[in-house]
Amino acid sequence: MSRPWYETIFDERYQELFGPLEQDPEVEVFQMVRLLTLPPGASLVDLGCGRGRHTIPLSLKGYRVTGVDLSEVMLNLARERASRERATVEWVREDMRTFVRPGAFDACLSLFTSFGYFCDEENQGVLMNVARSLKESGVFLLDLRNVRKGLSGENIDRTITVPSGRLSLRVRFDRTTRRARAESTLVRSDGIRISSAFEVRIYSEEELTGMLSRAGMRVMAIHGSLDGAPFTSSAERMVVIARR
Ligand SMILES: C[S@@+](CC[C@H](N)C(=O)[O-])C[C@H]1O[C@@H](n2cnc3c(N)ncnc32)[C@H](O)[C@@H]1O
Repeated sequence: MSRPWYETIFDERYQELFGPLEQDPEVEVFQMVRLLTLPPGASLVDLGCGRGRHTIPLSLKGYRVTGVDLSEVMLNLARERASRERATVEWVREDMRTFVRPGAFDACLSLFTSFGYFCDEENQGVLMNVARSLKESGVFLLDLRNVRKGLSGENIDRTITVPSGRLSLRVRFDRTTRRARAESTLVRSDGIRISSAFEVRIYSEEELTGMLSRAGMRVMAIHGSLDGAPFTSSAERMVVIARR
């Protein structure tokens, strides 16, 4: 049986294929700290931390940070950078469907669409794990692509020039499964083509609110960006803040 997409695409190609779509993580960290009013030294978990784009700057700001990810490739990149920058982070290679540390964290972060990868039951299970791992009144920040754009069925076909070549992004929404499939293809300047595809469940605001509530959290706010901008249909992101 073939392995699911989330076990295979987060590898050496990720930086080239998805890096150009990322915002400046230092700015995002500044915004998150402000948005969540994180007290100095708070304990945080970055769930699906990737190569530590946010985990490492948060640690350098004095937070006690745990980075959880399934991909050994991404974690190795994170470990190497943390060691170069002398950042202290606890790196954990584990599936977010099983990672639970009861009452351990002041905040849990799920950044740059690191949620919705599995079936509904397993996605709900991830939220249950988050709630269990938070301290009483701990906060969960979920940063997703704007679901309203996703659910409107709007297709994306975009090609941009990036340092290594031409990068095309194609997104299609399946109304039956309510999942979006995104394909990223890079044609490097030397003609070599690399590509990868991922597929996520798009949950409406109401569905997410219900799922968070079933997990024992309540939604405090929904923003259109980590800078706290209002959430509208045209916002690029959907940032949900929930509290246990
Ligand atoms: C879209 S990337 C975002 C990474 C990081 N949050 C960032 O902003 O750069 C999603 C991350 O989730 C990780 N991931 C995928 N499936 C996972 C799973 N089942 N358990 C834990 N991490 C997983 C991937 O390896 C990848 O690093």
